[in-house]
Parts: sequence; C-alpha cells; structure tokens
Amino acid sequence: MIIRKLKYSNFRNLKDSELVFGEEMNIITGENGQGKTNLIEALWLFNGVKSFRSAKDKELIAFHKSHAEIAVDFYASERLQNARIRLLSGKRENYLNEIKKPSSAYLMGKITTVVFSPENLSMIKGGPSLRRKFIDSAICQVKPKYSALLARYHRVLDQRNALLKENKKYADFSGMLEIWDNELAVVGGKIIAERISYIDTLSRKACVYHQGISHGKELLALSYRNGYDTQTTPAQMTEDFRLLLQKHLNEDMQYGFTTHGVHRDDVEITVNGKNTRLYASQGQQRSAVLSLKLAQASLIDEITQSKPAILLDDVLSELDNDRQNFLLNEISGTQVFLTCCEYPKADKRFSGKIFYVSDGVITTQKE
Ligand SMILES: Nc1ncnc2c1ncn2[C@@H]1O[C@H](COP(=O)(O)OP(=O)(O)O)[C@@H](O)[C@H]1O
Ligand SMILES: [Mg+2]
Repeated sequence: MIIRKLKYSNFRNLKDSELVFGEEMNIITGENGQGKTNLIEALWLFNGVKSFRSAKDKELIAFHKSHAEIAVDFYASERLQNARIRLLSGKRENYLNEIKKPSSAYLMGKITTVVFSPENLSMIKGGPSLRRKFIDSAICQVKPKYSALLARYHRVLDQRNALLKENKKYADFSGMLEIWDNELAVVGGKIIAERISYIDTLSRKACVYHQGISHGKELLALSYRNGYDTQTTPAQMTEDFRLLLQKHLNEDMQYGFTTHGVHRDDVEITVNGKNTRLYASQGQQRSAVLSLKLAQASLIDEITQSKPAILLDDVLSELDNDRQNFLLNEISGTQVFLTCCEYPKADKRFSGKIFYVSDGVITTQKE
C-alpha cells in the first residue's frame, strides 16, 4: 500500500493544501509545535481505528471552524483508490472511492499504517488498557471483522452493567443476567481466542526482531493474562468466561459493574522471563516497543499481502545509533513518514522527499 497524496482542509493547525508523497522515505521536518505530528495524525486517521493521540474528533477541527476534511489517494490492490474523511463536530463521515460508508470501521484494512511515537513506551510501563488497545487495533488491521466483535462485546457489557447497577429494580434480575452472561461469554470467548492467536504469532515475530536488536542476548515474549487457562479451545474459553462471570457476581453487584472479563485482561510482555513493566530498563523498553511495531508491520504485510506505511513520529532521536540502523534497515523498501526537528543532511540513510513544516504551512523540495 502506498499513500500517494494527502489533501486537507481545516485540519488542526495545518493550512489547507495538498501533498504528494514519495514511495519510500518522506522526511517531515520543522521546529516544535509547527504541525508535524498533526500531519502524521491525519495519515493515521485513515486506519479506521482511534487516533493515536486518542483525540476527540472535535479537537481535530481547526479552531473556530465547523468542520474539517482530509482525503488520500492511495495505491492498493493494484489500483489507485481514494478515501475521504469529513469531520463535523460530533459526527464523522467516511468515504471510500467516493462511496459513503456507515462508519470508519469500513476503512480498516485499506490504508494500513503502523505508528511509532515516544508515547508508545507507555504501552510497556502503563496499565493493561494500553496493551489491550494495541493488540485490539493490531488485530483490526488484519481482520476488520474483529472490530464488530469488540463493539458487540461492549454493547452487551453496557447492558449487563446497567442491570447490575439497578439490580433491585428488576423482578427478573437472574433471568436477564443469564441472557447477558450467555451472550457476553460467547462473544468474549471469541475475542479471547482471536487475541491469543494474534499474540502467539506476534510474540514469535517480535522475539526475532528483539534478538536482532539485542545481538541475541534477550528473549522477548508476550502472553495473554486473564486469570485462567488460555491453552484451551474457543468453546472451553466461552465456558470458562461464563464461570468467571458467575464467580464474581457478588463483587459485580456490589460495585455495579462487571469487574472481570475481556475488558480487564492484560498482555504480559517479558524479556528473559522478567516482566518488562516492572523490570525493563529504558533501553529494553524501547527495543521491546520497536520489536513489537516491526512485528505488527510484518504481520500486516504477511496476512494482507500489502506493506503498511510506517509513521515514525519523533522517535529516531530517542534511539541510539545501533537501534536507528536496525530500524531503518528493517523498513527499507517500505513507505515511511518520519518527523524530526532537524534531519541530518550529511547522513545517507536519510535520503528521500523532504517536507518543511512552519506554522502549519508545509513546503516541499526534492533532494
Ligand atoms: N484544532 C486545532 N486547531 C488549530 N491548531 C491546533 C489544533 N490542535 C492543535 N493545534 C496546534 O498545532 C500545534 C501542534 O502541532 P504538532 O503537530 O503537535 O507540532 P509538532 O510539529 O511539534 O509535531 C500547536 O501549535 C497547537 O496549538
Ligand atoms: Mg510532534
């Protein structure tokens, strides 16, 4: 997949314009606060998954404007295609090849990008929700139907929580709970099976990258953590999930929400058997995130037969020379969008199309 062109209007601080990108390295340079990350964010939005800054749509629209629009021409499945997103406050319209789609989920798997930014380190150090989000959006990119499963799970979860909160109101509380528990267990069991299968493959791939970065010294591994046996069949997972819900019913009724389940599970990331969240050094954390992102990109390529574009926002300066070389070597032959405050002109590794960003105005010059 190659992003040929991006057109934007009223998007954050970017002044309305149109950019034509190179097929390999695109370097986006400029001082702080000029709009580099905003450009990366615009590209990322076509993923169909949530903004990597988790911004609300309203925040994407330029101050004092009522709507924004971004559009890309991209080359995929051997033809030039087009996608367009209109952001109105509180509403988003999505178009694929000028056909309006009911939701941004319809863009998933079309314009695939993998973003790597300094905030990604919190994936290691932060709470389970960040790791779940990473895994869930990574699965969505290779299996867009997975997002419908997640949406269904959360709809049922909301219903179950509403019932728990107002449990005294309902005469047939147990009957209604059984219906939601059955549904939650079936959908949840499928989600767990998908997550475990993806994590297995991702773990194996990421381990190879991590060995490369650490010169064979470190073993990276991922495993799904949900408090019960994960080495079972999807049907057994559904059954286990149902039992888990039953086991914690008193707790759930006391708190008024579902305290255990797919929405609380975690992914443990270990290096040499030790949990990275608790024990990894800064360097190991960076290497782990880098390995995971490269593994994610490689899986997209493998499963969809199309290379994703790699978005590197401000990360190069955070990596030492060794890791920079490893990363640039692994992603050569891929379309890359790399932001930096100052790009090293003398460095041959950085040859490509250069964009200068100043106060939202983006100018270009071909080297
Ligand atoms: N909705 C918006 N409308 C106008 N300007 C915005 C909006 N959101 C953010 N900005 C501005 O964008 C700038 C930050 O751009 P950013 O892309 O993060 O900079 P950088 O070049 O450092 O990556 C800030 O000046 C901020 O005020
Ligand atoms: Mg930035």
